[in-house]
Amino acid sequence: MAQHDRAFLVRHPLAMAGIGLATASAVVFIALVLAMYLGMLPNPYAGLVVFVGLPLVFLVGLLLIPWGVTLQRRAIARGEKGDEWPVIDFRQARTRRIGLGIAVFTAVNIVIFLVAGYGTLHWMESPQFCGQVCHEPMHPQYTAWQNAPHSNVTCVQCHIGEGGEAFVHYKTAGLRQLFHVVTNNYPRPIPGVADMRPALQTCGNCHWPERSVGDAVRVRRTYGDDEANTESATALTLHLGGPGTPTGRGIHWHANPNLKIDYVYTDDARQEIPWVRVTRPDGSVQEFSADGVTAGQLAAGQGRTMDCLDCHNVVAHRIALSAEEAVDREITAGGVSRNLPFVRREGVKLLQASYQSTDAALAAIDQGLRGFYQTQSGEIDAAALEKSVAALQTIYQRNVFPVMNVTFGVYPDNIGHMASQGCFRCHDGSHTAKDGSSITSDCESCHRMLDEVP
Ligand code: HEC
Ligand code: HEC
Ligand code: HEC
Ligand code: HEC
Ligand code: HEC
Repeated sequence: MAQHDRAFLVRHPLAMAGIGLATASAVVFIALVLAMYLGMLPNPYAGLVVFVGLPLVFLVGLLLIPWGVTLQRRAIARGEKGDEWPVIDFRQARTRRIGLGIAVFTAVNIVIFLVAGYGTLHWMESPQFCGQVCHEPMHPQYTAWQNAPHSNVTCVQCHIGEGGEAFVHYKTAGLRQLFHVVTNNYPRPIPGVADMRPALQTCGNCHWPERSVGDAVRVRRTYGDDEANTESATALTLHLGGPGTPTGRGIHWHANPNLKIDYVYTDDARQEIPWVRVTRPDGSVQEFSADGVTAGQLAAGQGRTMDCLDCHNVVAHRIALSAEEAVDREITAGGVSRNLPFVRREGVKLLQASYQSTDAALAAIDQGLRGFYQTQSGEIDAAALEKSVAALQTIYQRNVFPVMNVTFGVYPDNIGHMASQGCFRCHDGSHTAKDGSSITSDCESCHRMLDEVP
């Protein structure tokens, strides 16, 4: 009688549906996970189904079982379906078998659940999740990241990091963001300043702040808008230095963990910095204020302690600052062919025009450049034209994302001072201390121009 009743308990339609759902989703889950590990499901959305959808169905199934059992039990109690409470009697072989069965079944369920949960978290930390599932908002950074020196460093290694606190903080932020994506409610473009941990916990995992780089030579080549795309080259020795050099001086002096540079910024992109304070390793303090800044402006600003990110803000996903810069770099790299007359001028013009969509832009670049050379007299190198069209299209695809309002120069690069203010946010000569000294704007403190281009 007792066994009959217990079997009877799960016979509530809800409990039966729950068992069905849980079993079916578990079987499908195992099959799909196997398929994924065998590489049979390369689609990035597959993860969404396998690691989020199926576990949810499984969970719903599991929850339905006790619910159905409770309903059934109440019905029995009310005398609607039967008249007795079950008696669990382990002296009976059948009860022991069922008990064991339930225990094994529960254990298997827990294992499935853990595997699914681990897979879910793991997969949600992959750049594929960040860049492809969250396709539209993260597309610019994902595309730029794929072509950067940090492309083997995953998004979460910089943006989330290790440890329980970071995990909870960024997973809650992540849920909020997922909600914004689902409801299609997020800023376009995504603001350039991200909620990052202190850089020593991110960059410091791989880079040694006290490492001294010494001097580094950099060469920049630019091209004219004339027929010959005339080249000019600037070569400079950057005094990177660092805390570990004998003087401890140079650009990486700021990265010395034993000193502290605090500043106040008054705009969202941290481009306006009217106040700076240095606390040196010997404890001495110096404060610099920009010319003409008022106490009211300072009070309205926000404070921050300088670290690697204040200079290396586009380190993993840089969008070119201008079409000119992007074309110049491609001419130097040989993608856009300097042998085509006026290619610099025409390339920049095509990239700067505004287009309805990426497809429209790619077509227009193709037709535009070919069309231009049809009107030119003289022999045109067909292979060079082919290659240049492709290179210009690539520049467009890597830097312009019409849906996200991302284009050249949307994100400032703080490392130099030509197209963005960069170093000159502080080193503009206008930030002075009470003793009259100012944050240096002397070109030679940062770099020396070389007369000869190496
Ligand atoms: C090497 C470290 C690093 C990696 C890897 C990295 N980022 Fe970033 N990311 C940064 C830094 C630094 C900023 C700027 C933060 C600041 O200025 O507050 C940033 C900013 C952003 C922003 C804000 C908009 C912008 O461009 O400034 C987005 C969105 C973003 N990252 C997405 C991604 C995605 C998606 C990936 C992976 C495809 C990724 N990041 C990989 C370091 C990284
Ligand atoms: C998981 C390890 C890792 C993390 C985290 C990391 N980097 Fe790197 N970084 C590398 C490696 C490896 C290279 C060399 C890549 C190469 O040369 O191909 C590199 C190269 C660089 C370079 C020189 C190349 C370039 O893009 O100019 C800079 C600058 C740099 N990292 C800064 C940073 C900063 C700033 C952060 C923190 C936001 C950071 N890195 C976080 C591993 C890392
Ligand atoms: C004051 C601005 C500034 C700060 C702060 C700063 N850097 Fe740099 N860093 C630079 C500049 C400028 C370069 C040279 C850029 C170039 O390659 O043209 C550079 C270059 C580098 C390079 C490449 C060196 C090489 O061998 O070519 C790495 C790696 C690096 N920085 C890591 C870091 C890390 C990690 C931090 C934080 C601990 C940091 N930087 C803080 C300005 C800064
Ligand atoms: C937030 C403000 C700020 C920014 C941004 C900034 N610096 Fe500085 N920098 C300072 C301060 C403050 C000093 C110390 C001034 C002094 O000692 O007179 C300094 C000192 C220096 C020095 C001299 C260090 C020494 O004593 O040897 C160099 C070189 C330098 N900065 C380079 C750079 C470069 C390159 C950039 C951009 C990539 C940059 N700084 C961005 C605030 C800044
Ligand atoms: C606070 C440090 C600092 C000061 C002061 C400074 N520069 Fe620079 N400069 C830099 C850095 C950093 C770069 C970027 C190097 C890079 O792109 O990797 C740069 C790049 C340049 C370039 C190359 C531009 C390019 O196309 O990338 C030129 C030219 C230049 N500076 C000229 C000057 C002149 C002239 C002065 C003096 C009026 C000056 N700079 C003052 C830090 C400084």
